[in-house]
Amino acid sequence: MESKIATAVSQIPLSGIREMWQRAAEYESYISLGIGEPDFNTPEQISNQALQDALQGATHYTQSQGDPELLKAIQMYLHERLGEGFSTGQIVVTTGGVGGLTSFFRTVLNPGEEVLIPEPYFPPYRHHIEWVGGKAVPVQTRFENGFVPTPEALEAAITPQSKALLLNSPNNPTGAVIPGEILDNLARVVLERDLLVLSDEVYERLLFDGRTHESIRTRPGMKERTVVVHSFSKSFAMTGWRIGYAFGPEWLITPMIKVVSSTTSCAPSVSQRAGLAALQLDAEVIDGMVEEFRVRRDQTYEALKELPDVRVHKPGGTFYIFPDISQITQDSRQFALDLLKEEQVVVIPGEAFGPAGKGCLRIAFTVNQDILKEALQRIQRFIKKIS
Ligand SMILES: Cc1ncc(COP(=O)(O)O)c(C=O)c1O
Repeated sequence: MESKIATAVSQIPLSGIREMWQRAAEYESYISLGIGEPDFNTPEQISNQALQDALQGATHYTQSQGDPELLKAIQMYLHERLGEGFSTGQIVVTTGGVGGLTSFFRTVLNPGEEVLIPEPYFPPYRHHIEWVGGKAVPVQTRFENGFVPTPEALEAAITPQSKALLLNSPNNPTGAVIPGEILDNLARVVLERDLLVLSDEVYERLLFDGRTHESIRTRPGMKERTVVVHSFSKSFAMTGWRIGYAFGPEWLITPMIKVVSSTTSCAPSVSQRAGLAALQLDAEVIDGMVEEFRVRRDQTYEALKELPDVRVHKPGGTFYIFPDISQITQDSRQFALDLLKEEQVVVIPGEAFGPAGKGCLRIAFTVNQDILKEALQRIQRFIKKIS
């Protein structure tokens, strides 16, 4: 019967992330640094407001584009953050950030067309592209460049079938933030090669050391060809609400709304009310969470930096760090399995994010400082033992 499963689905391999979960379930207790979501619960004001709204009837379909009040609030948020006016026609509310990604690919890709993606990258990108008959083409990045894509690497990956470039900054899994001058140069190539851009900015609020968020969309000629994906999941600790939005030129957003209409009808209405409450939240609540991640980032970076055979960059954003352990072993999958067996700590092998991640690990600092300290000590002990 299994042969009846569509090839595009059956050929999805067991992801390195899921494999680690399955293995970890065999242990009675373990520390997971594999989780790609904030450990904080959604701020109470958000949940309370959504609950009140649900009790008052926010339990029906909304228009496919989104709850008009939420669309207005997003319009104001973008105006404040980007210093630029938007019409609500440039915005669509989606089911998580993933809803924005999948609507974009369904909207622009014909079979055989290619999407260029700096590797390592968030694995579902590839599945969404392949499900509509497209092809994900990696753009090589290197540890030495901080895993930031260079314009030369982008040029080298372009073919006549290239349709779009997908950028993700701040980045999962590396925590890298693409510097402004690189964005300038990538935008130049995009324009010369007449590509579209999907800019996945779901970590836009999770930036450290006084950085301000920069988007390729603001570069000359980009606004007409870029869709930006935002999500409430990471910045507002709202992963389970499944709510996000995308914005861009109306010529792209209008057909994306058609896709939303036919796939999910609309994003969950009660979650849209939660999104509205999130945008009304005092900035200090978010700043407090970001500061906690900053402290943990430093704690993790310092512990890894001390290890002689480990190379590591200090992440500019997100809650991930991506050390290179290739001087200890090339086989980061086996390393992760052995670490789990010996010390009951879950980390994700870098190759789960594409071959360019081989020899690296993704460590998420999504546990409190005490647990993180314990996990880092176990990692240090394990590395000293095997090297
Ligand atoms: C880079 C990136 N994009 C998109 C998403 C999806 O976000 P959401 O949970 O809002 O669908 C994630 C979630 O891990 C992510 O890491």
